[in-house]
Amino acid sequence: MPYRRKFLKRAGYTTLSALLTMAFLQKDKEKEDRSIYAATANYASANTNPPLRKLAAAKGKLFGTAISGEFLQKEKDYANLIARECSIATPNGELKWNATEPQPGKFTFESADAIADFCQKHNIELHGHTLFWHMGKPDWVPYPPTLKMLERHVTGVMGHYRNSPVLKSWDIANEIIADSENETDNPTYGLRKGVKPELVRDLFKIAASVDNTKKFYLNDFGIEGATWKSDHFLKMVEYLKNNGVKIDGAGIQSHLWFSTAYGFDAKGFNSVLKRLNDLEVKPIITELDIIIDTPLPDSIKKLDQMVADSYKRYLDLCFAAGVDTVISWGLTDRHTWIRHPDWMPRKTYRNNPSLWKFLRPLPFDENLQPKLACNAIAQVFQQAT
Ligand code: XIL
Repeated sequence: MPYRRKFLKRAGYTTLSALLTMAFLQKDKEKEDRSIYAATANYASANTNPPLRKLAAAKGKLFGTAISGEFLQKEKDYANLIARECSIATPNGELKWNATEPQPGKFTFESADAIADFCQKHNIELHGHTLFWHMGKPDWVPYPPTLKMLERHVTGVMGHYRNSPVLKSWDIANEIIADSENETDNPTYGLRKGVKPELVRDLFKIAASVDNTKKFYLNDFGIEGATWKSDHFLKMVEYLKNNGVKIDGAGIQSHLWFSTAYGFDAKGFNSVLKRLNDLEVKPIITELDIIIDTPLPDSIKKLDQMVADSYKRYLDLCFAAGVDTVISWGLTDRHTWIRHPDWMPRKTYRNNPSLWKFLRPLPFDENLQPKLACNAIAQVFQQAT
């Protein structure tokens, strides 16, 4: 879409014939672009739903997504969709360390403030993501950073948003549990190499000393079931609680990869949700998207139905466990991170552009039309007790 706007602007066509030519060319360009991602381009479900934020609010819940300042600025239709559908938003990258403190002690908030302004204008809550992560950081920041670096970063960034009317929560730490037992030097908590539990404890305490009015989350992926990672994540949550740390919620990223080859560990996921509730740490869905991996179904319609069914099944479990905040990682397939070659499921998709049309993890398609997944999410909110 942005290319279309640039293309029109660059060409500066004003006469009718030029516009007609443009329209013809554009159709071609659009068709070509959609060829990689296109489902049956006009296949989408009629949007008979009220805004998802409205359906969520009727049940005392929040629904939102990760948003990008660049697209808010460049794409009016994208900005309108976010404003219509979302009551909470997470900056995709604008509050990560490389965006907020690119040089030691030099803080830059323009891009994050623009998102905060958008949120304030549209009555959208802002979720801060994230103050400590092994990615999204400038090269001068080691992993793990020294406590002194963390203290300066947290003081600068959380301090900037202490009186924000929209920012209500932070992912204080993100993805601190190793991906497997071979990648940790801490068998008890399974933390990434070099990360000590005391560092995480002190990080949360520093955050509370700067601004204890926000909700504090520990956020991670791969914990949506009974896994090595979820077991160690829960142990780390318990450690923080036992050390008197303010931790209000656990961010369950929920980047779900399903395939017709394997199901979903509902029993294990329920046990994670129960454990968090027992620890009085609220489970929050922070980065939900649903990717179908091989073997792929034989049509886009079937794929979209699988995605929709998975959203329903997953969110039914979440709401049964009292989850009240659901944030997807993107709202439209147009900008899903999973269509980026760095992030798409390697084996199936990386070298197969002809399959990229199956990368449809979100409620709205690339033309911002609602998909079966959108109807499914609406239905789950409507049926929630
Ligand atoms: C992703 C962004 O969506 C991408 O644009 C960026 O290139 C890499 O990071 N878990 C997280 C998010 O906590 O911050 C990541 O976001 C996706 C995985």
